[in-house]
Amino acid sequence: SIELSLRPSTLKQYIGQDKAKNNLSIFIQAAKLRNEPLDHVLLYGPPGLGKTTLASIIANEMDVQFRTTSGPAIERAGDLAAILSSLEAGDVLFIDEIHRLPRSVEEILYPAMEDFCLDIIIGSGSSARSVRLDLPPFTLVGATTRAGLLTAPLRDRFGVLSRLEFYETKDLCAIVERTAEIFNVSIIRQAAIEIAKRSRGTPRIANRLLKRVRDISQVSGEKEISLETTKQALEMLQVDPAGLDHIDHKLLLTIIDGFHGGPVGLDTIAATIGEESQTIEDVYEPYLLQMGFIQRTPRGRQVTSKAYQHFNREVRPS
Ligand code: ADE
Repeated sequence: SIELSLRPSTLKQYIGQDKAKNNLSIFIQAAKLRNEPLDHVLLYGPPGLGKTTLASIIANEMDVQFRTTSGPAIERAGDLAAILSSLEAGDVLFIDEIHRLPRSVEEILYPAMEDFCLDIIIGSGSSARSVRLDLPPFTLVGATTRAGLLTAPLRDRFGVLSRLEFYETKDLCAIVERTAEIFNVSIIRQAAIEIAKRSRGTPRIANRLLKRVRDISQVSGEKEISLETTKQALEMLQVDPAGLDHIDHKLLLTIIDGFHGGPVGLDTIAATIGEESQTIEDVYEPYLLQMGFIQRTPRGRQVTSKAYQHFNREVRPS
């Protein structure tokens, strides 16, 4: 499908994340030279930065199968045992949101990762006994928003820890141009840059904005996506010039107008704007922190003078 072909399939096609990419490239080459599976990899960072894509690239570059599941999808130890025992030698098993694995499941993952074996209990009561089954060697690729969400024993079993960062504008621009090419539409450079600047450093957002901009451009009969249409489309989508959307606005304005700029606790903000604390922390805050619109203090979140200026507000006298 088009959605799948949007994902690059090799490290060479993957734009940005040079640090993660260069490290992985070396570890993959070394594992292949030794004819061994790649060590287990933990990918962490905000949503939409390409963790699933990188995991599928790892499988492709290692010439093995890519199997995928997620933490919340695996409810019982038996579910994971079934997946693990169906793997073939060298396969990549991708577990998204790995911090959400139930504890009982996580415990059978430890010997699987460390010694490629499964400890299962057969029978019950006085006839119960533990049996050790061998597994094919495999590579676990886990993904999570923050490495700190994992328990220490799970985190310690990954040989490679790789943090994905927000993308630079030039990389997002290249991604927008690549996606436009796959969609078979022309876009002028300035329009691609405009989408890139307003995508919160996130390829998933850039590609989503491009789709909507393309709709509006096509309906207005353009043969090439223009800067004017792009700006108009982004305004319709309520994405402001800094890339902030209406939830970012709600969050910042709640702190400014409701709590005199803060500090205010995360749970209070969450209750006021009607979002989960965890969603605010994992999805909205990282970019606002990176851009310097908010700060974390021991007493909660505080907006900066940059936030006041963004809304043309008088900075609160301190
Ligand atoms: N599409 C989405 N993310 C991408 C990336 N990092 N490189 C190339 N194409 C992409």
